[in-house]
Amino acid sequence: MAALSHGLGLDSSFWPVLYLAMPSPLAAGHAPGKIILCGEHAVVYGRPAIAAPVAQARAFAEIYPHSHCLVEAADLDRRVDVASAPDHDPFALIVRLICAELGQPLPRWRIRVHSQIPIASGLGSGAAIATAIARGLLAAFAADLPAARLSALVYEVERLHHGTPSGIDNSVVVYERPIWFVRGQPPLIFQAGAPLHLLIADTGVASPTKAAVAAVRRAWEQAPATYEAHFDAIAALVGQARAAVAQGDAAALGPLLTQNQQLLAAIGVSSPELDHLCAAALAAGAGGAKLSGGGRGGNLIALVTPATRAAVAQALAQAGAARVLATMI
Ligand code: PMV
Repeated sequence: MAALSHGLGLDSSFWPVLYLAMPSPLAAGHAPGKIILCGEHAVVYGRPAIAAPVAQARAFAEIYPHSHCLVEAADLDRRVDVASAPDHDPFALIVRLICAELGQPLPRWRIRVHSQIPIASGLGSGAAIATAIARGLLAAFAADLPAARLSALVYEVERLHHGTPSGIDNSVVVYERPIWFVRGQPPLIFQAGAPLHLLIADTGVASPTKAAVAAVRRAWEQAPATYEAHFDAIAALVGQARAAVAQGDAAALGPLLTQNQQLLAAIGVSSPELDHLCAAALAAGAGGAKLSGGGRGGNLIALVTPATRAAVAQALAQAGAARVLATMI
């Protein structure tokens, strides 16, 4: 409702008229954003990582009858004619992959995409949008796919965004549960022993993951022993974090997150903004804080409790966070 009234600039008294005038969708799909709790970057080099969905920030796709196959994402200022789009267009690719999977020609549908997830900020926006489109199409075709297969198709779209993705984003977004992830292996779904409260704070600095991953690759090539040692140290703390999450032990988890941040800074993917916001969160009582995702900008996560949440959120906003979101594992 908010998006409708905002997008069209209409007074709420127009809504009933609007609903009568708008065709209802044939089908719809949605998918969550995600955070990486710990282990990013090292996961590209075969170490484990933990990721969790963010239900509060989602991508949506609605399917309408149309003259040809069109993907429309007003938020992103994109209109893609699927039949004529180039191979590297991510919207066209997921539509083509789903149709090929189901043995269907391109449908005469308009796929309307809307996302609450900021792009290029480590929250899995690309994987969420592709998954939402895939789910909308599957529903419109009255078809279904096993999660592992859907995740594999979304991975193909991730390759366009990221170059050599580990596969963690498509896995957590499709399974929509906390996962323990090792590249090349099926994700292991697990549960927190007690709710863990997190704030997600945006530096406001857009940072494409592809560039961050490429920078780490260059540095690793120049000093392999140093980088391998950092990745091993990250793997060790990710193992400890898994036990802490499974036990719902926030007191044990917090310092591990902060230690992960120090190692991420050592491999060169923190930034002055991330360092500043992490310090502000810790000073205000967060149990731990670290960047989440590709780094060099984007988002950070801070571990809080219901008692510290408001003060830490306020400190993050005062320290310059562009947006602060509360979530829970
Ligand atoms: O999409 P992001 O920004 O959350 O980054 C994914 C995590 C990395 O480990 C940096 C890359 C990858 O493919 O796993």
